[in-house]
Amino acid sequence: MSQEVRGVIARSKGEPVSIETIVVPDPGPGEVVVAIQACGVCHTDLHYREGGINDEFPFLLGHEAAGIVESVGEGVTEVESGDYVILNWRAVCGSCRACLKGTPEYCFSTFNATQKMTLTDGTELSAALGIGAFCDKTLVHAGQCTKVDPSAPPTAAGLLGCGVMAGIGAAINTGGVGRGDSVAVFGCGGVGDAAIAGASLAGATTIVAVDVDDRKLEWAKGFGATHTCNSSTTDPVEFIRSVTDGNGADVCIEAVGNPAVYIQAFEARDLAGTVVLVGVPRPDMTLELPYLDVFGRGGALKSSWYGDCLPSRDFPMLIDLYQQGRLDLDGFVSETITLDDVEAAFHKMERGEVLRSVVVL
Ligand SMILES: NC(=O)c1ccc[n+]([C@@H]2O[C@H](COP(=O)([O-])OP(=O)(O)OC[C@H]3O[C@@H](n4cnc5c(N)ncnc54)[C@H](O)[C@@H]3O)[C@@H](O)[C@H]2O)c1
Ligand SMILES: [Zn+2]
Ligand SMILES: [Zn+2]
Repeated sequence: MSQEVRGVIARSKGEPVSIETIVVPDPGPGEVVVAIQACGVCHTDLHYREGGINDEFPFLLGHEAAGIVESVGEGVTEVESGDYVILNWRAVCGSCRACLKGTPEYCFSTFNATQKMTLTDGTELSAALGIGAFCDKTLVHAGQCTKVDPSAPPTAAGLLGCGVMAGIGAAINTGGVGRGDSVAVFGCGGVGDAAIAGASLAGATTIVAVDVDDRKLEWAKGFGATHTCNSSTTDPVEFIRSVTDGNGADVCIEAVGNPAVYIQAFEARDLAGTVVLVGVPRPDMTLELPYLDVFGRGGALKSSWYGDCLPSRDFPMLIDLYQQGRLDLDGFVSETITLDDVEAAFHKMERGEVLRSVVVL
């Protein structure tokens, strides 16, 4: 029998979200119903509400979550009722051209639930990133559930489901940061600070945090930033060169989604260095760069989707590091809130007051 639960819905572009009753079908073949325990508020949820991702309203928001498997559909062998899981938006298909080449971290055909969750009048919901977890229970594909050690609290574990994984992976997987590297991270929200934590884990010795908000820069130090630069008052390119023997950083990570910031990252990079774009641009944005510099500076300009992660490999590993005290996931949790507070959390995010507000159910 389908179930009715509460969920956070974005009905139309730019309008405040509302709490509505949603209908969660019983899991069909390959599907799983998960009782959500915690779900972080990511900037991408706000992008959805602003119509910046697509126009497929209404959206069921929330996608950075951990919970307990309640029931599984026919043929599901990966998880069973009672399993503690982090939800992922990269359930690899195993048969697309990326998977067949042995690079499932780029899977182009990831699995989501086949059935749709709906409003009580039958209106189909678009689940944010194929998850939709600002709700008591959600329906996902079994491959979207990654089992992890249940002793890690859901407020911390859930963050690996999106922003923290995206940031750590942007540094380690996409940027290839290694021991002794210099790294600059532009934008020190949840994603940028995770990139700083990732660079620190990988052994970078110079880690420059760049933001326009002094409070964010202060927090960035706690994740491993060795230098900070407020780019609203100090030229970040000059600053980064000044702390890297005049050269620029080996890896520059853009975690804002702003072409002007991308150009700073491009210019603050050492010869043959790497720029990683993890911030999500809006559809109307364009980028103009001096073509000769694109050639002359060499190196790599890369984009990072979900930190090029493989959930089955990376989530349990990062939970291990958390439990060993080497990755401060709790440090990202600025506040715990209820479903009713998601709209207010968006405003706090816009005002720069939080790294992550985490809905606890
Ligand atoms: N690529 C992915 O897979 C992926 C995954 C999750 C989130 N994201 C994206 O990453 C970006 C960051 O997400 P978040 O949740 O950390 O957001 P956030 O709002 O918490 O953080 C953004 C930070 O950027 C800073 N900032 C704003 N304008 C700036 C500027 N001009 N120069 C420097 N800093 C500036 C803000 O002060 C803030 O600290 C968003 O675009 C989000 O959609 C991407
Ligand atoms: Zn695939
Ligand atoms: Zn996200």
